Amino acid sequence: MSFLSETLSRVKPSPTIAMTAKAAELKAAGRDVIGLSAGEPDFDTPQNIKDAAVAAIAAGKTKYTAPDGIPELKQAVCAKMKRDHGLEYTPAQVSVGTGGKQTLYNALMATLNPGDEVVIPAPYWVSYPDMVLLAGGTPVVVETALENKFKLTADQLEAAITPKTKWFIFNSPSNPTGAGYSRDELKALTGVLLRHPHVWVMTDDMYEHLAYDGFEFCTPAQVEPELYERTLTCNGVSKAYAMTGWRIGYAAGPEKLIAAMRKVQSQSTSNPCSVSQWAAVEALNGTQAFLAPNNETFKRRRDLVVSMLSEIEGISCPVPEGAFYVYPSIAGLIGKTTPAGKRIETDEDFAIALLEEADVAVVFGAAFGLSPNFRVSYATSDAALEEACRRIQAFCAALT
Ligand SMILES: Cc1ncc(COP(=O)(O)O)c(C=O)c1O
Repeated sequence: MSFLSETLSRVKPSPTIAMTAKAAELKAAGRDVIGLSAGEPDFDTPQNIKDAAVAAIAAGKTKYTAPDGIPELKQAVCAKMKRDHGLEYTPAQVSVGTGGKQTLYNALMATLNPGDEVVIPAPYWVSYPDMVLLAGGTPVVVETALENKFKLTADQLEAAITPKTKWFIFNSPSNPTGAGYSRDELKALTGVLLRHPHVWVMTDDMYEHLAYDGFEFCTPAQVEPELYERTLTCNGVSKAYAMTGWRIGYAAGPEKLIAAMRKVQSQSTSNPCSVSQWAAVEALNGTQAFLAPNNETFKRRRDLVVSMLSEIEGISCPVPEGAFYVYPSIAGLIGKTTPAGKRIETDEDFAIALLEEADVAVVFGAAFGLSPNFRVSYATSDAALEEACRRIQAFCAALT
């Protein structure tokens, strides 16, 4: 019998790690690899947030805190929910964790029993299905279509729900597609949930602030107040505030669920870093002025990447509403052969050949549950993006 747990044997190691390791290996060998695989902004954390952290250290705010967050941060989350979405929460309905990832994980650990199903639209953020498996549940993956800009339809959600469904995980704007649901599109989904009172919605709003062309972000409990009692609204400071390394995420929802999540956290990691929590208070309460110029930059980069990739025969690249990713289809390139003689059967073959033969690192679609595609993160300089897209164009043009 294996010393390792059976639960762990059901969980896949991240397929992105293999690509990242390969890119690092080539870089170490002196190759000029351009990385378009990082899931984090290239901007620095704003100065006011750094200053708040320094002040917290100077004031000795360096001890254990309540396991799921300091009252000041919970209060800041309540104010943010009211300000941005018109949603009323009390601090007892808020949980703060070590990154958005921990709050999502806590919620699944706190609620799933063997046999419980969790509906996850694909392509999905890589961790959702494996977190469900770790928590003992069963992921029910529903593939979306490029023609529908990778958005789940009401009919698809309806068909995926069974008596065993416990959660529906919703992510808009999405990692990896950047797809953002309009109010009407979201309302169609919440309408389905209204007909199934046993299903809760876990909404991952991590990319809320990264949206372009006037896209109006909205979250399920806001568009359908009747779902308030069975919605967990998850968010964090990692992406919009360029704070990936600080590790602060949060969730707001029914008090009983939040208490259960606190129990999980209090017996695993205890409180998130005290200094980071004070930095997050400033992120949420302080100026939001840098968001607009950052978004201008991201939008410019999105447009550059979409237009350069769309020029390639065999690639189809919808324009996403937000986040900092695009998710082109390579359906038209499957079956072709690279200059080095490699046949492209899958999107993994494509991504590996692109890295080995053209020095561009992307993440293949199979990692996110929808193929044949690849994910480009455009959170890097305009010059690097332009050069990378030129290389992708040349690589694709040379396929036979
Ligand atoms: C959709 C989505 N949710 C959650 C997270 C986790 O964020 P954090 O770094 O705060 O744990 C990420 C990070 O990549 C993400 O893309």
